[in-house]
Amino acid sequence: MEIEIIDLDFYYSGQVHALKNINFSILKNKITALIGPSGCGKTTLLRCFNRMHDLYPNNRYEGKVMFEKRNILNKEEDVIQLRSKIGMVFQKPTPFPMSIFDNVSYGLKLKGIKNKTELSERVETSLKQAALWDEVKEKLNKNAFDLSGGQQQRLVIARALAAEPDILLFDEPTSALDPISTGKIEELALELKQNLTIIIVTHNMQQAARMSDNTAFLMLGEMVEFGETAKIFNDPIQKLTKDYVSGRFG
Ligand SMILES: Nc1ncnc2c1ncn2[C@@H]1O[C@H](COP(=O)(O)OP(=O)(O)O)[C@@H](O)[C@H]1O
Ligand SMILES: [Mg+2]
Repeated sequence: MEIEIIDLDFYYSGQVHALKNINFSILKNKITALIGPSGCGKTTLLRCFNRMHDLYPNNRYEGKVMFEKRNILNKEEDVIQLRSKIGMVFQKPTPFPMSIFDNVSYGLKLKGIKNKTELSERVETSLKQAALWDEVKEKLNKNAFDLSGGQQQRLVIARALAAEPDILLFDEPTSALDPISTGKIEELALELKQNLTIIIVTHNMQQAARMSDNTAFLMLGEMVEFGETAKIFNDPIQKLTKDYVSGRFG
């Protein structure tokens, strides 16, 4: 088990009760999909795992998110360190306004790695892991914005991988991409799970069914059902789940 979520509640600005008593586990080297109608709390839940909500001081977590035998919601948690172990990829590609090389080496330099050979090697490894190396190896000094949307998304993944994370969080990573780029990201995620754990928010149910091992179905901030993806899609326990996955509402 990689992450265990125990009685998790989350409040925006101390008021909006966006997550209610969430309990489930994220398994290591698996892909877990978070699905549910718009506004049900998928992004909110994903952002608990690397404490992204801390950017606003009145947001409040209750309960536990256990990772490496400690509750990462504790005040003492080093969130900078946490975010290098639990990386995040957003809906729209978010490269920095700098070269391809500098995008990937950015975090490494912050960590104090100065040796040029080491930086080059780690940039190459990360770009290879993100299935982007062959497309960019001749133009590492070009601006990242010269890349296509799909390439930018893989660049962002390479940047996250350079920090050698244990977990990658994806928030609808392909919703701004064409089908071919989407396929590449899906293929890449399946490849990456050999070495790390992936949690992906998607409102594309075919994508969840294709990619994930486990699926959590949320509604109105509550976990309706969690289980193996095949079970959730083909033989769910809850009628609500069945109605949702069969497209009766959404
Ligand atoms: N910054 C915020 N402040 C207050 N409420 C928010 C904020 N962000 C999201 N919410 C509310 O929290 C709920 C869950 O939102 P979200 O996690 O973004 O849903 P999803 O990703 O499933 O579409 C919604 O009711 C939304 O309106
Ligand atoms: Mg969302």
